[in-house]
Amino acid sequence: MSAEPAVAAVIDGKAFSQGLVERVAVAASRLEAAHGVKPGLAVIIVGEDPASQIYVRNKGETTLKAGMRSDTHRLAETTTQDELLALIAQLNADAGIHGILVQLPLPAHIDASAVLAAIDPDKDVDGFHVVNVGRLSVGVRGLVPCTPLGCLMLLKDQLGDLSGLNAVIVGRSNIVGKPMAQLLIGESCTVTVAHSRTRDLPALCRTADILVAAVGRPEMIKGDWIKPGATVIDVGINRVPSKDPVKAAEGKTRVVGDVDFAGASQVAGRITPVPGGVGPMTIACLLANTYTAACLSTGVEPEDLNA
Ligand code: GUN
Repeated sequence: MSAEPAVAAVIDGKAFSQGLVERVAVAASRLEAAHGVKPGLAVIIVGEDPASQIYVRNKGETTLKAGMRSDTHRLAETTTQDELLALIAQLNADAGIHGILVQLPLPAHIDASAVLAAIDPDKDVDGFHVVNVGRLSVGVRGLVPCTPLGCLMLLKDQLGDLSGLNAVIVGRSNIVGKPMAQLLIGESCTVTVAHSRTRDLPALCRTADILVAAVGRPEMIKGDWIKPGATVIDVGINRVPSKDPVKAAEGKTRVVGDVDFAGASQVAGRITPVPGGVGPMTIACLLANTYTAACLSTGVEPEDLNA
């Protein structure tokens, strides 16, 4: 008689993110009651990119749901860099705005790094400003990029103390891979960052107690790359053709992660699904960062927002 294959517990990021938004809302209302400060988030979008429009609308709606101020600045595709920098200067000086997010990607005629550098680091709720990157790397409190922060919250909720665990991060982007590595070093994990030039990636992944996939390649990480019982965090959001050939011919798509979920969930101990895993955590962490920025600008210690 052969043993049944193990099936991983599925980490419900949607439920966790809803709880986090509720905790942010309660903390924000207490900040307002005690100090008269309502956290305010300004989101700037330049151009008409349809996916970005949806993201920005969701951010605005969720911000209002958490009882915070939400301003959305929709600028034409033809906006000049100087016009955008002038708006950022105005928002930097606005005491009612605690968080500023410029939706990426920007049109090609605008230098994104110059724009990100113009945001007041204490209002940089994306955590992309070099000052916040530096704070994270030396372990000083600052604003941390939303997606890796969301991954860390899920990991701590699932595993508690992470110290001594082997973490492998596949992907070395500034938005996910590098800050994720810093956060896990901060939790006393042994961290390896893998990328497209890494040799024998499957063998390296098999050493991971925590495997974070952030490469942007659909279902690249297979079940036999995973250490039995490991915790797998899938950051990928990839659109691929529908499984049904008729629907695929009509151009219908589905969303998959960077991990082959069916294979991996037979081996892993816990795994995030796509959709419904890391994705919903990003907006929730943006609100958490806006609340944190409002507290720090008011000289108030932020409440612990972990579950
Ligand atoms: N576009 C896609 N993801 C992000 C993000 O996390 N922040 C910003 N500003 N733009 C994005």
